[in-house]
Amino acid sequence: MKIGIIGSGNIGGTAAKLFLNAGHEVAVSNSKGPQSLQLFVESLGPGAKAMTVEDTIAFGDVILLALPWRKRDVLRSLPSELFKKKIIIDATNPYSENFEVIDLGNRTSSEEVAKQVPGIHLS
Ligand SMILES: NC(=O)c1ccc[n+]([C@@H]2O[C@H](COP(=O)([O-])OP(=O)(O)OC[C@H]3O[C@@H](n4cnc5c(N)ncnc54)[C@H](OP(=O)(O)O)[C@@H]3O)[C@@H](O)[C@H]2O)c1
Repeated sequence: MKIGIIGSGNIGGTAAKLFLNAGHEVAVSNSKGPQSLQLFVESLGPGAKAMTVEDTIAFGDVILLALPWRKRDVLRSLPSELFKKKIIIDATNPYSENFEVIDLGNRTSSEEVAKQVPGIHLS
């Protein structure tokens, strides 16, 4: 399976290694661009690529969101066609910049993240 990972830090980077070890193809992305991830993907070995966020979503059958909660709006400006037939796994937790838990009332954090995905219909 092709898995696109947005955010290549503790969670995204570790997940990339585990997905590769399980036989999947992986694309990783971050805020600095694919060039900044070149050494990392070389360390992962064959089957790993560094891409822009947009290309990562186009690449993946499954998309893992592994970026800080406060950056979740990165998805908002992208074309809705990009997200058609994609499975999105949200690993983000609602922490502030100071690592305080953000109280979302009776809403789940993934419901809030889903609102950032263009074209998604929540019921
Ligand atoms: N660490 C844990 O144990 C843990 C457990 C469960 C869930 N989580 C959740 O998983 C998420 C990631 O945690 P983490 O510990 O992996 O964070 P992290 O190590 O700080 O990594 C965050 C990644 O997100 C990227 N990023 C930031 N802004 C971006 C943007 N606009 N577009 C694309 N990529 C962007 C960063 O890239 P740059 O460096 O280029 O900015 C970095 O690669 C958080 O929401 C956290 O709450 C963490």
